[in-house]
Amino acid sequence: MTARGLFISFEGGDGAGKSTQSRLLGQWLEESFGAEVVRTREPGGTSLGRTLRELVLHGEDVEPRTEALLYATDRAHHVASLIRPALDRGAVVITDRYLDSSLAYQAGGRELDPTQLRELQLWAVGGLVPDVTILLDLDPALLPQRLTGAPDRLERAGDDFHRRTRDAYLALAAAEPERWRVIDASGGIEEIAGQVRAAVAPLIGART
Ligand code: TYD
Repeated sequence: MTARGLFISFEGGDGAGKSTQSRLLGQWLEESFGAEVVRTREPGGTSLGRTLRELVLHGEDVEPRTEALLYATDRAHHVASLIRPALDRGAVVITDRYLDSSLAYQAGGRELDPTQLRELQLWAVGGLVPDVTILLDLDPALLPQRLTGAPDRLERAGDDFHRRTRDAYLALAAAEPERWRVIDASGGIEEIAGQVRAAVAPLIGART
């Protein structure tokens, strides 16, 4: 964690509890290890990103390639201006969503070509992949009860879309088990937080 920081991403369906778990993990890393923790999210981790977030979630309807490029633009700027500098100074970066969201939503959900989309992502981020990715896995059938407020464009995409997205996440995790940890997100907040800490602890040489 000294030479280069630690890069952690949370993934999962809308309303799976990513932001709560990212906050609890960040607090634990700060309080127990005195780490510099940078918590961020996609889309919208930067000022430009917040404009892009508004456009992609609440703007006019766009076709899947345009949607994919908007997310990739947000991500490229996010990495260059915030994530990479933080990692270079040794911080722990915790992001709520990263490139796997595009692979799950735009390839899985929108059915764009996964190979091309992966290449686009890696190009956009200059090859930066998280040290660990935590999938908070939740059956999409449970989602509507957790969502609050008016649904955005992606939340309105329909049940099949969200099922394809979940399947894509599980396939990504199965294909790269050394990077992914899959956690059942239907449990209680504290129970899930304990599993998240256990997933991250080996990377910081800690015991939970
Ligand atoms: P987010 O703010 O994480 O919403 P939530 O809190 O509901 O999970 O993400 C907004 C939406 O953008 C979400 O539906 C997932 C979608 N998304 C993509 O489709 N592709 C991407 O690359 C990213 C980062 C998000």
